[in-house]
Amino acid sequence: MNTWNQKVHKRREHDISEGKPILILGIETSCDETSAAVVEDGRIIRSNIISSQIESHKRFGGVVPEVASRHHVENITLIIDEALAKANRTLDDIHAIAVTYGPGLVGALLVGVAAAKAVAFARGIPLIGVHHIAGHIYANRFVKELEFPLLALVVSGGHTEIVYMKEHGSYEIIGQTRDDAVGEAYDKVARSLKLPYPGGPYIDRLAQEGEASIPLPRAWLDGSYDFSFSGLKSAVLNVLHNADQRGETIAPANLAASFQEAVIEVLVEKTFRFIQERPVKQLLLAGGVAANRGLRTALTRRAEGEKIDLIVPPMSLCTDNAAMIAGAGYIEYQKGNLADMTLNGIPGLPLP
Ligand code: KG4
Ligand code: ZN
Repeated sequence: MNTWNQKVHKRREHDISEGKPILILGIETSCDETSAAVVEDGRIIRSNIISSQIESHKRFGGVVPEVASRHHVENITLIIDEALAKANRTLDDIHAIAVTYGPGLVGALLVGVAAAKAVAFARGIPLIGVHHIAGHIYANRFVKELEFPLLALVVSGGHTEIVYMKEHGSYEIIGQTRDDAVGEAYDKVARSLKLPYPGGPYIDRLAQEGEASIPLPRAWLDGSYDFSFSGLKSAVLNVLHNADQRGETIAPANLAASFQEAVIEVLVEKTFRFIQERPVKQLLLAGGVAANRGLRTALTRRAEGEKIDLIVPPMSLCTDNAAMIAGAGYIEYQKGNLADMTLNGIPGLPLP
C-alpha cells in the first residue's frame, strides 16, 4: 500500500513538472445520476457522460437508495468506458481520478468510491476525494475563471447554503437551511400538486404561467443567514387542504408562482444582504435548483443593479455530473491533496 502511495505522489510531481495538460477522470454517484467525465486542466470538458435513473425512481415519487445503488453498480464501468471513449483517451492518458466521497447516499457513494479506488490502485493513478458541493461550485469554473473572494449560493435537492471562498478549495459556510433544502421543498410541493418527480422543473414551468396571487410566508430568520423552507412548504399544503375542504379549486399555476416567488425572494435578499456586509468579486450560483429560470432571472437583475459579477452554469452543469467533480478535483490535485486506499463514502461529509 505504501509503495502505491509513494508511486502516485511521485507520478503527480513528475506530471506537473512536465507542464503538459492535466487530464482528470471524474466520477459521481452520490445520488441518482451515474456520471463519468474527462476534464483537461480543470476547465475544458473532453467528455461528460450522465446516466440518469429518474425513470426508475419516478414511480416511487423519490429516490430509493437501494435502487440507486444497484443502478450505479450496473452502469459505472460502462459509463467510465464511455467517458474515456468520447474523450478519445484511454486510462494511460489519465493523470488522476477524482471521485465524490460525500455527502450523499452511502450505498450510492460507495459504488463510485470503490470503482475509483480499484482503477487508481490497478493503474497507479493518483486518487482525489471530492466534496459534492465543492463540485457544484466548481461547475462555474467551466464558464469563467474564479476571482476571490467570492460568494456561492448553493441550492440543490439536498443542500441550501451560502458559501464564502477566499481562495481555491477553501469554503466557509455563512448560512444554511435549518430544515428542508430548497430542491426538497420544490419536490414536496410538486408532489402535493400531483406533478411527477423530480418536481422542481415542473413547478418552475408552471410558475411562468401563473400569478403570485396567493399570500405565503417567508422565513427571514433575522440576524442569521440561515434558511428555513418547511414552514413555506406546510403553508402550501394548507392552502390546498383548506380549498379542498371548502370545495374550491386553486389554480396550480398561481400556487406554483406564489411558492416560487417566496423562495426566490428569500434566497436573493439574503445573498445580497451578505454581499453588502462583506463585498465579493463574484457571485456564483450552484446546484440543481440553479436550473430554475425564475431564480436565474431574479439574481441576474439584482446583480446587474448592484454591479456584481454573477456566474451561472449552463443548465447541463447545474444538476449532478462528473465534470464538476473533476473540476473541483483539479484544485486538490494542484495542492497535492491526494487520497489513499482508506478513502470511504461519507454520507454527512462537511465541507473542507
Ligand atoms: O444538484 P441536484 O442534481 O442533486 C442534489 O445534489 O441534490 O439537484 C436536484 C434538485 C431536485 O430537487 C430538483 O427538483 C431540483 O434540483 N431542480 C429544480 C429545477 N431543476 C432541478 N428546482 C427548481 N427549478 C428547476 N428548474
Ligand atoms: Zn448535487
